[in-house]
Amino acid sequence: MPPAINIGIIGCGEMGEIHARCLKEIGTATIRGLCDTDEARARKLLAYSPDAYVCSNPERLLRDDSIDAVYVCTHNDSHAQLGIAAARAGKHVMMEKPVAISLRECEDLQNAVEHSGIHFMTAFKLRFYPSVQKVREFMPSPLMCIAQMTDERWPDSFWANDPVRGGGNVISQGCHAADLMCYLLESEPVKVYAAGGNYHHPGLDITDALTATITFASGVTGSLAVGDIGLTPYVSKLSFQVMDGTRSAHLYDRLKQVSMWDGKHEEHYTDSEELGFLLENREFLEVVRRKAQPSATLRHGIRATVLLLRAIESMKTGQPQSVQF
Ligand SMILES: NC(=O)c1ccc[n+]([C@@H]2O[C@H](COP(=O)([O-])OP(=O)(O)OC[C@H]3O[C@@H](n4cnc5c(N)ncnc54)[C@H](O)[C@@H]3O)[C@@H](O)[C@H]2O)c1
Repeated sequence: MPPAINIGIIGCGEMGEIHARCLKEIGTATIRGLCDTDEARARKLLAYSPDAYVCSNPERLLRDDSIDAVYVCTHNDSHAQLGIAAARAGKHVMMEKPVAISLRECEDLQNAVEHSGIHFMTAFKLRFYPSVQKVREFMPSPLMCIAQMTDERWPDSFWANDPVRGGGNVISQGCHAADLMCYLLESEPVKVYAAGGNYHHPGLDITDALTATITFASGVTGSLAVGDIGLTPYVSKLSFQVMDGTRSAHLYDRLKQVSMWDGKHEEHYTDSEELGFLLENREFLEVVRRKAQPSATLRHGIRATVLLLRAIESMKTGQPQSVQF
């Protein structure tokens, strides 16, 4: 049996706990250290790994030679800085999304990881849904994507709505949708034109909803609507449609269901549960074990942030923006 992989978790809130639960269920990794600035939160996760130590300073995990990889599950404003520190310490990284929330952070993180020799995976769980994989098999080369990720209104006091700690819904959650669109269209975004604004969080310096038209290097196009502008019960928070001239596929019900139309017949597929977290964790452990590239890389994480930052720039200037980075 291969030796267990030793993990440290930085940020032991909701997502730290979800990853700890997945790691326990998979059973091939050991959580050695739990770190949270609020140590009580870190202690709660001892339920998943009673022999782990608890600390409040991420440096403690990064200096621990027995730790192979860290999960960064803190708020968005500390992702880049912790990713850079982990790369310098030679720890592989599973980074919660968004990997960064400014262009400067994207650049610094990319530079730090590039020559470090670590493997860096962005936690884009939506890619791992079996329904999404079905659509990729059914339609490898779509010509168009209509994507929606709209949530119920987030409270003003929610950390993710804090302009510094979270960046607001478009940046914090929209990155999932931006990445899934790029993943389904299998091409690089090159230009974006967007409109939107702050519709219902007066006093917060954030963009809470945005619609964007995106052109890709292959010539295909995408239409993206994101924001905490209202949940739509019929299709759910997530709805993605792709078309290729003859065929179409529609993912909905939080991507658990997909309807595929080949021009003559409809095929329907349902996932019994949301498997994204578990499957992305499985892949990350294989990435560390085999020293392989993850399917969702740092570059993909940066691409999603840059696309949304450029979309906000387009919204503010009224001009299309290049998405080159
Ligand atoms: N992949 C997904 O579907 C998904 C869903 C929700 C949230 N997220 C992302 O996961 C991350 C965490 O979100 P959450 O909902 O778990 O938040 P949370 O508030 O529940 O937990 C974050 C924890 O990080 C701790 N923390 C903050 N700064 C720290 C630091 N510098 N060092 C150590 N600990 C620190 C906080 O004390 C808190 O306990 C966010 O980036 C968020 O965008 C991803």
